Formats: sequence, structure tokens, C-alpha cells
Amino acid sequence: MFITFEGCEGVGKSTQVRLLKEYLEHTGQPAVYIREPGSTKISEQIRDVIANPQNTEMTDITEAMLFAASRAQLVREVIRPALERGELVICDRYLDSSVAYQGYARGMGVDVIKKINEPAIDGLLPDLTIFLDLRPSEAWRTFKNTDRMEQESADFHDKVYEGYIAEIKSSNGRIVPVKPDFDKKVTAERILEVLRKKGAIK
Ligand code: TMP
Repeated sequence: MFITFEGCEGVGKSTQVRLLKEYLEHTGQPAVYIREPGSTKISEQIRDVIANPQNTEMTDITEAMLFAASRAQLVREVIRPALERGELVICDRYLDSSVAYQGYARGMGVDVIKKINEPAIDGLLPDLTIFLDLRPSEAWRTFKNTDRMEQESADFHDKVYEGYIAEIKSSNGRIVPVKPDFDKKVTAERILEVLRKKGAIK
């Protein structure tokens, strides 16, 4: 099974992936953990280009294609082979991030983003996506503002959120919103409940 995590900046997404990893390791359920962009040698190099705050001249289409390129490598080098071996794959961000950030917030349009990503994902969509449903203005941590994406305006991050909400509606139940609690353990329990219900974990 292929599971992804999505959400705006600062909502505790990476913490939740870490807590899920701890739980699954503790209960003897093996999985492959990856993040986007990144998790292969080439994809990490692409991540550096995307995040570099000195790359101020980067055009929207370049950015969208770099995310897709990183994804294309990850799908072929890690995700597909792991799924073929019957392993559980848990990925911090995937295609929905491109739809929300580049499609909605950058205003490139959902259709363009899906078209660019078609050859990258080669038909591979997540079986289940956990969306940490918190508006950026309500997020727990203030941005570090160290990378190019985090330096975007509050308005940009609001549009990202609206994009996710629109995508949930058209996802036929694939994207499940989970309300984060101030207590990260409560949030983790809510996520485990969804994953158990969907038969992803024990
Ligand atoms: P992270 O902060 O979760 O590591 O994600 C990296 C940044 O890249 C974050 O600001 C979200 C952004 N992003 C996109 O804009 N499009 C994408 O397709 C992905 C995967 C991430």
C-alpha cells in the first residue's frame, strides 16, 4: 500500500510521519519512509535547487517541472520497486503538493500540473492520503523562512490550503482530512485510527 501525508507548512506533518514510524517499528510492521522532493541521490540534488533562496529568477514552470523530475526518479528508483516487493510505502508529500502549491497557489492550474506529472508518476497514485487539516494562519510553528518556498507570502500559503480543500472534494475519498490537535499524540492516534480503518496497518 502507498500512503502519503499532505498539509501546509508548520502543521506538524513531519512530526506525525516520525510518530507513525515509531509506532510501526514498535509493533513490528515494516515500511519504507520517504519525503518529497528528495529521497534519492538525484531527487535530493533537485530539492537543493528548488529550496535555494538565491534562485529568485526561477520561473513557475521550471519549479513545477523540477518537482515532477524529482518525483519521476523517486517513483522508479524507490516507490514502484518497494510496492512490487509488497512493502508499505509512506511518503511525506507527493502529487497533491504540486496540485496545491503549483496548481492553485502559483495559479498554474490543476490540469497543467496533472499533465506535467503524468509521465512522472506513470499512473501511480497513493491508495490513501492523510491531509493534516489546519490553516497556515493556525499552524503551530512559525516558518523558519530559510527556504525559497517558505519565504512565500501568507496569502500564497492560504491559497495552498484552499487548493487542498478543493482536491479533497474531487478525490473520491482517497484524501482523508485529519484535524491536528495541539497534543501531537492525540493527532497521532487520530491518524492510526484512519489507517487501521482503511486496512493499511494493524
Ligand atoms: P517540506 O517543507 O514538507 O519538506 O516540503 C518542501 C517544500 O516544497 C514545501 O514548501 C512544499 C513544497 N512543495 C511544492 O511546492 N510542490 C511539491 O510538489 C512538493 C512535493 C513540495
